[in-house]
Amino acid sequence: MQIVRDASGLADFSGGVLVPTMGALHAGHMALIERAAALAGEGGGDIVVSLFVNPTQFNDPSDFERYPRSLEDDARKCEAAGVACLFAPDVGAVYPRGVESAPESALPRVATAPGLEDRFRPGHFAGVCAVVSRLFELTRPRAAVFGEKDWQQLCVIRAMVERAGGKIEIEPCPTVREADGMALSSRNALLSADARRRGLSIWRGLEAAQVETDPPAAERAMRRMMEVGGVEVEYAAVRDAATLEAVRPGRPARALAAGVVGGVRLIDNMPWGV
Ligand code: PAF
Repeated sequence: MQIVRDASGLADFSGGVLVPTMGALHAGHMALIERAAALAGEGGGDIVVSLFVNPTQFNDPSDFERYPRSLEDDARKCEAAGVACLFAPDVGAVYPRGVESAPESALPRVATAPGLEDRFRPGHFAGVCAVVSRLFELTRPRAAVFGEKDWQQLCVIRAMVERAGGKIEIEPCPTVREADGMALSSRNALLSADARRRGLSIWRGLEAAQVETDPPAAERAMRRMMEVGGVEVEYAAVRDAATLEAVRPGRPARALAAGVVGGVRLIDNMPWGV
C-alpha cells in the first residue's frame, strides 16, 4: 500500500474505487472498504481510501479539535484490508487556494431540507460538498462508497454527482451496529459509559418509530424514547428517503434522528414503513 500525501502521487490510482473518510477507522469504515473491494473486483480499479479531517465541515471548532485522529493505526487497517492507496493529504494539498466551502448556490436542495442537519450544523454540507468534490477531482475515481449512517450526506452527494453529469457511481453501504443496536461512529470513542448508554436511546427511538403507521406518530414516538433515555434531541423526523421532504404515499421513507449526549453529537437513521 502506498501512503500518498499530495496530488502528485495519485496519478497511478485514477479510475479506482474511493472510500472517503476522516480516519479513526472502525468496523463501519472497514465495511465501506469491503464494499469497495467488491466493486473493484467486479469492475476493476484500485481501492483508494482518503483520510482527511476536513475543517470546513465542522461548524463547532472544538468538535474539529477533539475529532479522534489515529493515522498509524488507520494505515495498518487499510493495508490489511487490501487498500492500494491511502491518500492522507494536509490542508494545503486539498485547499491550495485557501480553505473554502462550496457556495450555498452550488448545494443541492436536499442539503437544506428543513429541520435536519442544516438547522443544527449550518454550513456543514457546504464543507462536505467542497471536500468531496475536491477529493473526486484529485483521485478521479470511477466509483465511491458512502455509509448510510450519514443518510442526508449520501443524498447530498448523490444529488451533487448527478448534477455534475453522474460520471461517478455512488455506492451506499448499510450502517454497521454493535450487538445492542448502537450505530458505529468515530465519535463513539468520545462517549463515557453513561453517555453511551443514553446514546443507545437514539436507536431505540428509531425502533419505536417502526411500530407507528403515520409519520407524526412515528416522530413523537422517536422523540419520546430519546428524551426519556436522556438525549438532548435535535431532530426526530420521518421523511421521503430521497428528497428528505414530507413523506409521499408509495415512496420509500426514512426515519432520521440526531441528538447530543455528554457533549457528543450522534446521528442515526433507518428505513421506515417498509
Ligand atoms: O462521512 C465522512 O466521514 C465525511 O463527511 C467525508 C465524506 C469523508 C467528507 O469529509
